[in-house]
Amino acid sequence: MFFKKQITWIKLFESLTAANNQIAVGSVCTMQVGKKKLCVAHTTEGFFAVNDKCPHNGASLGNGFCTEQGSVVCPMHRYHFDLKTGRAKSGLGDYVQPYPIEIRNDGVFVGFQETVWNLF
Ligand code: FES
Repeated sequence: MFFKKQITWIKLFESLTAANNQIAVGSVCTMQVGKKKLCVAHTTEGFFAVNDKCPHNGASLGNGFCTEQGSVVCPMHRYHFDLKTGRAKSGLGDYVQPYPIEIRNDGVFVGFQETVWNLF
């Protein structure tokens, strides 16, 4: 289809074991993927990725923490963002872009609905 969006998959980790070793359950971190900074979270439900920049005032969500309810919490003013939808659970309708994560035999990948040229 002409307007169908393509997802470009970029490898974040060489394996699930490497991902588990780098980000413990209940933790978040910031990862640079091309020009984009992502906040990657590891919860009991798996791995999630959202834009790292908090929409409220620009803090790095990767310096925050995640909750058992599946949110990342901004370290600056403690806004909560749902890791699946990106919606703020507090604040005035703020939103962070979530990105899909796929775990494959050859690594852990994050997907972007844009061309790879926009990333670099
Ligand atoms: S900068 Fe993130 S909640 Fe204010």
